[in-house]
This record gives sequence, structure tokens and C-alpha cells, in this order.
Amino acid sequence: MLRFFTAGESHGKMLLAHLDGFPAGLTIDTTLIDRELARRQGGYGRGGRQKLEADTVEVLTGVWHGATLGSPIVLCVANQDDKLERMKEVERPRPGHGDLTGAIKYLGPIRGVLERASARETAARVAAGALAQQLLGEFGVTVFGYVTQLEQIAAPPHARTLTELRTLRDASPMYTLNPEADARIVARVDQATAAGDTLGGIVEVRAENLPFGLGSHTQWDRKLDGLLAQAVMSIQAIKGVEIGLGFEAARRPGSQVHDEIAYDETQANRPHLGYVRTTNNAGGLEAGMTNGQPLVVRAAMKPISTLRRPLNSINLRTKEPEAAAYERSDVCALAACSVIVENVVALTLAAAFIEKFGGDSLVEMKSRYAAFLELARQR
Ligand SMILES: Cc1cc2nc3c(=O)[nH]c(=O)nc-3n(C[C@H](O)[C@H](O)[C@H](O)COP(=O)(O)O)c2cc1C
Repeated sequence: MLRFFTAGESHGKMLLAHLDGFPAGLTIDTTLIDRELARRQGGYGRGGRQKLEADTVEVLTGVWHGATLGSPIVLCVANQDDKLERMKEVERPRPGHGDLTGAIKYLGPIRGVLERASARETAARVAAGALAQQLLGEFGVTVFGYVTQLEQIAAPPHARTLTELRTLRDASPMYTLNPEADARIVARVDQATAAGDTLGGIVEVRAENLPFGLGSHTQWDRKLDGLLAQAVMSIQAIKGVEIGLGFEAARRPGSQVHDEIAYDETQANRPHLGYVRTTNNAGGLEAGMTNGQPLVVRAAMKPISTLRRPLNSINLRTKEPEAAAYERSDVCALAACSVIVENVVALTLAAAFIEKFGGDSLVEMKSRYAAFLELARQR
């Protein structure tokens, strides 16, 4: 079983990710983790913080001579902006943040809440997810995230090969797959910046080459759709999660929703074992299990809560009306959000992979995976 936690404050010494149950024998490439951390810091509309940090990972435990040992792995992303001890208390809670609720719940300072609630925490989740992507890569699984909408501006993905799509995304200021939409997106972010406002949008993640049977229909807490929804919904500022058609399925009759099943023997060596579908409205999951089709997860990000033109609040000490506190902040972090959702999905899939095929080592996992495919072909 893969277990996973993060620790650390936004302006503390570091963010940590602790992974327990990761198989032995995976040769890891930290430059791939650093690449994801750098992507998380990018995108159009980010605030000053990103210019201060140049995140890199340090592997503190669980790796020897570049390969995992099967023992707990601790990943560290140091904070360059490490100034927590010198920082003052915040007195004017910001709407849309946990400031007010957390201070009351913990009977303590707002600073203590916002430092941990901050999306800086996602640096640790991205580092762990980037490691998970390396494990999934050993089984040919790819996980790919991008932006499909900023506020009212749709940026529908073009259909190309994954390599071409990666090039498109990495050249896009908002990590979209639609260069035509990018100019409008950039103009809208500039407009919001000038107005002291903020923006959100929608991100999508596709995972390809997944085998049948990750997750399980047998118990609520083993259903992969539920596990994905929890993992993605727990990301800061995510307010909706969809799989496949998602909410659109509720607006259609069954004949236009469910993916009809056919068999094509010539494709029996693919992860879907030749069981092909003409549509993928289910987004790769039926009854909480992967069905051999690409997994498609979408997430809605609300606009950033801290506005340069602040919303009304109160002073928590005097209880008098005052403008909400403003600390250096993003206008739009949607591009970063696509990186976070991609890596959180990867982490959830890696956990499901380890549950289904896990052993203590990658070698054992690969042999179990191959044996399962063989048995499933004979089914
Ligand atoms: C990548 C990313 C960057 C964010 N940057 C900021 C920011 O600069 N300022 C801010 O007020 N909120 C930011 N947020 C959103 C808050 O962290 C989030 O809204 C807040 O913690 C409350 O949690 P909730 O929105 O999930 O309820 C960011 C979120 C993400 C995913």
C-alpha cells in the first residue's frame, strides 16, 4: 500500500513529501522531478513569489545509488523565501481562504492557518507525483495535464500525438493545447491584473495505457473514481471534479452516454486487450475500476482568493470593518494548477497500481503485471 503525506509551511524552511510503500529498484531521475517543479512555478498571471523560488528537489531518504530501496522516501523542496519567524500576524481575514475559520477552529493565529493552507504545499505533492510518474512510466503509462478553459474563454484541445501535444502545451503561456485561444487568454489576464481582480478556469488530465482493473467495485473506499475525486478536490482552490462526461452525462439520454463494447483481436496486445469502444464518455472508469480506455479527469479552479483590490472583511481584533489583507499574490494560477492535478492524478494511479500489482520491488511488480495480462487475455 502506498501512503503519502506532506509537511511544511509556505514561508518555513522547506516542504516535505513522505512516501511509504514505494517499491524497491526504481532508478529515479531527479531532473524529471525538478522539471515538474519548474512547470508548477510557471504560467501566465503568477505573482512575485514565483520569481523568488527556483524549486529543486533533494531526496533525503529511501534512495541509494540512485535507486529506491523500498523504505520510506522523503523528498525535500527548500524554501528560498524562508522568513516565517519574522512574519507578523494577519488581522484581517481574507474571504475565500481558511483564515477566519482556521483561527477560530484552532483558537490561534491566522498566520498559522494560512501558512499551511497555502498552495505552496503543492510543491511537495508535485515532487511526489513526479516520482509516481516515473514508476508508471515503467508500465508505459503516460499522464498529461493541460488547461482547457480560462474563465469564459474555451481552449479545446487539438487532436495530435502526445509528443506534439507536449510541444504545444510547453510553448503555451497558459499550458493550453490551443494556440488560437492563448492570445485571448493573455489579454484577459492582463485586464484582470489591471483591475486588481483574479481568474480561475478548468484543467484536464489524460492518462493513457492503463490496464484493466485499477481500483475496485467491491467497497466504497477502493473505488478509483472516488479516490481520484478526493485527491483532486483536496488541491487548493479546486471546487469541482469530473470524470469523462461528468455533469454533461446528466443532460443526455443513456443512448448518448454509455460506451458500446466491441472486440478487435488485432489489438489484443494493447492494455485494453482488444476490448475497444467507439466513445470514451465514461473517461476510462466504470464501477470504480479502470476499463482499459484513457482516463480523463477535469477540475474546476476558482479565482484566486487574495485580490489586489481587496474584498470587505473585518479586523479580527477590533471586529470593525476593514479591507481584507493583501499579500503578494497570483492573479491566475491555472497553468500551475494543471501541473498539480496531473501529478496528483499520477500519485493516485501509482497507489492503485501498487495495490493491484504491488510487491516489494519493481521487478516483482512487473512480473505480476505481465502475469495478469496473460491471464486476462485467456479470460
Ligand atoms: C497553484 C495555486 C496557486 C495559488 N496561489 C494563490 C495566491 O497566490 N493567492 C491566494 O490568495 N490564493 C492562491 N491559491 C488558492 C488558495 O491556496 C486557496 O484558495 C485557499 O487555500 C483556500 O482553499 P480552497 O479554495 O480550497 O477552499 C492558489 C492555488 C493554487 C492551486
